[in-house]
Amino acid sequence: MALTFKPIASCRDSQPFAECCGIDLSTELSSEDINTLKVGLLKHGLLLFREQSALTPKQEVAFNEAFGWHDPHQNEFLFGFGAPSTEHRVSGGAQMPAFPQVSVLGNVMLEDYYGLQNLQLSPVLGFTFSAWHADGLHDMHAGMPELTTMYNPVGWQTDSGGETYFTSGVMAMERMDPDIADELRCCVAVYMRSPNDEFPDESRRIDSGPSYMVDDGTRRIGFGLNPQDASAGLREFQLTHEHAVGGGQHRCVRRHPVTGQESLYVTPGKVVYLLDAKSGDIRHDIEQTVDILSQALLPSVTSDVRYEHQWREGDFVAWLNTLVLHSASDPAGIGGKRLMHRVRLSTPKRAPASSV
Ligand SMILES: [Fe+2]
Repeated sequence: MALTFKPIASCRDSQPFAECCGIDLSTELSSEDINTLKVGLLKHGLLLFREQSALTPKQEVAFNEAFGWHDPHQNEFLFGFGAPSTEHRVSGGAQMPAFPQVSVLGNVMLEDYYGLQNLQLSPVLGFTFSAWHADGLHDMHAGMPELTTMYNPVGWQTDSGGETYFTSGVMAMERMDPDIADELRCCVAVYMRSPNDEFPDESRRIDSGPSYMVDDGTRRIGFGLNPQDASAGLREFQLTHEHAVGGGQHRCVRRHPVTGQESLYVTPGKVVYLLDAKSGDIRHDIEQTVDILSQALLPSVTSDVRYEHQWREGDFVAWLNTLVLHSASDPAGIGGKRLMHRVRLSTPKRAPASSV
């Protein structure tokens, strides 16, 4: 059967994402297949592959390396990628000892799973905390991952919940108010340092993911006391410019070097302020930044517009972080067991990816 793409039914009118049919990713991919998949990823931003029942961790890594976007010299797979502290590995998850590129996420106790033994997985973050992002944006300065893949292995079907939300950053540029789009084209996002373990005042440290978000995950109203419990309330905490010292920076709108498409490329929950891209002066301060980013993203992320992927056993989803934003749903909605694999490899480190 030939490799084909078709719209994903539940979001066919609102997102460019596609289901890819006629390919078994557990077999060796031909260079022709890889080229077709690469064109499909660049065109659609996200590809869904159903019934990939026999995929091994080695093959997941091979898929991520097939397109030439990764850094072949990467040998550390800490996430956040640029984290100065080794404490921050995989939030609530683990890396497979034999394949550290593959993170295992979920809520189950693993007695012996690909070398992970007696390990309790714990889902963290989600829609209320952290919300919309592209992988690596807020905690890396360079080498941000072009591609992320997630896989729901057979035998690990969640009863309910646990959806991953996606929206096209390209279409977000078209959906937002044109004046806001013009404004963001002039702006550089400045992120809070993540993690900021060395922040001198302990009460002002921010864990890597506790921004408390409302308005469909677009607007930060504070920092949660407990990132696993939305009802736990907010910390008394005032974000200041100081929290952005040492944080990442990049343009809010990115033009993809291959497709030429403009994409909204920002993680609103972690931005402290916006700079003028030409002068380097502050163009929008902390409060204003929260509002403008929320206004930019909101038309693209409401439940009628976003794609809510409900995971089935054997689902493999691959997306380009440069063209697509995503969010976990709230872990409190997960019914039953959940176990997922995730791979995201750094791109070769160059100058900060700040050019439009
Ligand atoms: Fe992510």
